Amino acid sequence: MKLHYGRMLTENLDGQHGLTRERMHALTSRFPSVHAEVKTRRNAGEYGFYALGQQENTVRWIRRFAEGVGQAYDHVVVLGIGGSSLGVKAVINALKAPAWNELDDEGRDFFPKITVLENVDPSSIQAALKRIDPRRALVNVISKSGGTTETLAQYLVVRAWLDAALGADVAVRHLVFTTDPVSGPLRALAGREGIPCLEVPPDVGGRFSVLSPVGLFPAALIGVDIDALLSGARHAIARAEQADLLQNPAALYAGLLWTADTSLGARIHFVMPYSDRLRDFADWYRQLWAESLAKRLDRRGEPVFAGPTPVGSIGATDQHSQVQLFMEGPYDKVISFIRLEDPGPDIMIPTRPNLPPELSFLPGHSLGELLRVEQQATAAALARMGRMHCTLELPDLTTETFGELIMFYQLAAGFAGVWYGVDPFDQPGVELGKKLIYAAMGRPGYPAEAASPEAPTA
Ligand code: PA5
Repeated sequence: MKLHYGRMLTENLDGQHGLTRERMHALTSRFPSVHAEVKTRRNAGEYGFYALGQQENTVRWIRRFAEGVGQAYDHVVVLGIGGSSLGVKAVINALKAPAWNELDDEGRDFFPKITVLENVDPSSIQAALKRIDPRRALVNVISKSGGTTETLAQYLVVRAWLDAALGADVAVRHLVFTTDPVSGPLRALAGREGIPCLEVPPDVGGRFSVLSPVGLFPAALIGVDIDALLSGARHAIARAEQADLLQNPAALYAGLLWTADTSLGARIHFVMPYSDRLRDFADWYRQLWAESLAKRLDRRGEPVFAGPTPVGSIGATDQHSQVQLFMEGPYDKVISFIRLEDPGPDIMIPTRPNLPPELSFLPGHSLGELLRVEQQATAAALARMGRMHCTLELPDLTTETFGELIMFYQLAAGFAGVWYGVDPFDQPGVELGKKLIYAAMGRPGYPAEAASPEAPTA
């Protein structure tokens, strides 16, 4: 993977916007202390996701299950939300054929279909349960805390659906939980009913967990090479060990975006892959960037109200919806393009007799080439308007490069936490919302008046 960041710099834009040489110098000079802080915090156990590159035992267990018992199921149903669903969806979208569930058995190489029940919207859940045969389904319930209301509600609905079709005893054989090794309601349920349980490492938070059993288990069940995924992740980690900022793409990316946000007024951070296969990745990025960096208090407990607004877009589609805003709207954003050098199997644009001149330039080119040219042209146009942007270039979208991309962003979020001076691993805002839901839904220990509209605000 390459990070092209030249067009974040004033000298390559309109001479007015972007980072000056002085700002770049300030970043490189400050980096040794940022790097050292990440190291200290890693040693203190805060950056648990670095260890996900090495999970031999977990990978062995998951592969054995996927290649053995896992073969008995036609459909994997994942229950989870936030960090427990977005990464799984990103992996499926990037690494399995489009419209996977619509392919026949042979088209799927006899791997199961997969459905992620993310929301608690009854219309989508009803439709999914109508479509899926419970006798052939394996349900993977994912919740790091084991206590998220949406996931537990999904579980109770899906469990009743399994029990009704199979009987409670057999239903247990159609369930695998992924949760904390010790605590939480899911862990307790699993112990009581003998449901197999995979562990989310306690020092890995939801949005950093896609390369833990949270993402690896469903991925392996549908035939993703999880060793390759982790090998890509290890590559990103190795580069993030570099103490020279210009050799450390994740830290540099985080530093550039932090400067753009906090010093240059660019508080909106778009990620715009030129690939439909990275559409769900862009959703995953939004959660990673938003929950990790948006904080009311800094590390010292002082108010900061930090946090860029992350947005996902897709090229070339959104050239026809958002690029007007990028070009002529306020100078309050940075666009990170993601480009694949090789988009995979390509389609040549065929010719036809008697084409009018407005069309005759297209035959002889390919759709992949058109996509690449569209990204380059959009980027060049933005540069002429003095708009900051950078490009992450992947040679192709393989399991390994996707593992590298995922880990690159997690590392960038980890470095960004230090650039911003906030804790990227907590989410007090989400936690408060969870508590108010408990109160409103009558969970013991959470007084109902706390959730009433009349309750005082903070
Ligand atoms: O990143 C996070 O920590 C959150 O978005 C969680 O993933 C989300 O709230 C779901 O939590 P859990 O996995 O505990 O059910």
